[in-house]
Amino acid sequence: MDAAQMGDDLERVLLTQDRILARVEELAAQIWADYEGKDLVLVGVLKGAVMVMSDLMRALPGTVPMDWMAISSYGSGTKSSGVVRILKDLDADITGRHILIVEDIVDSGLTLSWLRSNLASRDAASVEICTLLRKPDASKVEVQVRYVGFDIPNEFVVGYGLDYAERYRNLRDVATLAPHVYR
Ligand code: IMP
Repeated sequence: MDAAQMGDDLERVLLTQDRILARVEELAAQIWADYEGKDLVLVGVLKGAVMVMSDLMRALPGTVPMDWMAISSYGSGTKSSGVVRILKDLDADITGRHILIVEDIVDSGLTLSWLRSNLASRDAASVEICTLLRKPDASKVEVQVRYVGFDIPNEFVVGYGLDYAERYRNLRDVATLAPHVYR
């Protein structure tokens, strides 16, 4: 779905598909250089990371396995609490392997900080994070993010995997929603 097909649901496009893809290619090149010769596993967090995972993987110049987790964080409305339940765990044993968590967005960072320590406790060789988007609040929590696509303002965004009530994930761009959508 393109922004033009969304009628008046959108407020503004923050990042176009072209900009996103160009940045994902840069991240892929950097990741490939950093993990050369290492046993790397990309771990995506369902469902938001689906788009960034698929573009990032295809931009890598060699083969890498992917695995997925589904977690639910107990929170009210659009804010997460950091209390997390695993709905789907990894298929792979990650002992001794280098894990790169692939995320769509880091907001408070609470979910990721929980996920990183959960994966580290399984004796992974390393656990790093790659996120397409980062909001300003992420700096308040002690979560080191190694690869960041874009720093964005503290606004609720949809598209490129990100949803509002399960909608708009298939928008190609990243955009803010018009106020009437929330009502
Ligand atoms: P955190 O624990 O606050 O960092 O929450 C991260 C999760 O909240 C993301 O994986 C998203 O699912 C969701 N989230 C945070 N900000 C947004 C947004 O602007 N749009 C859509 N989902 C968001």
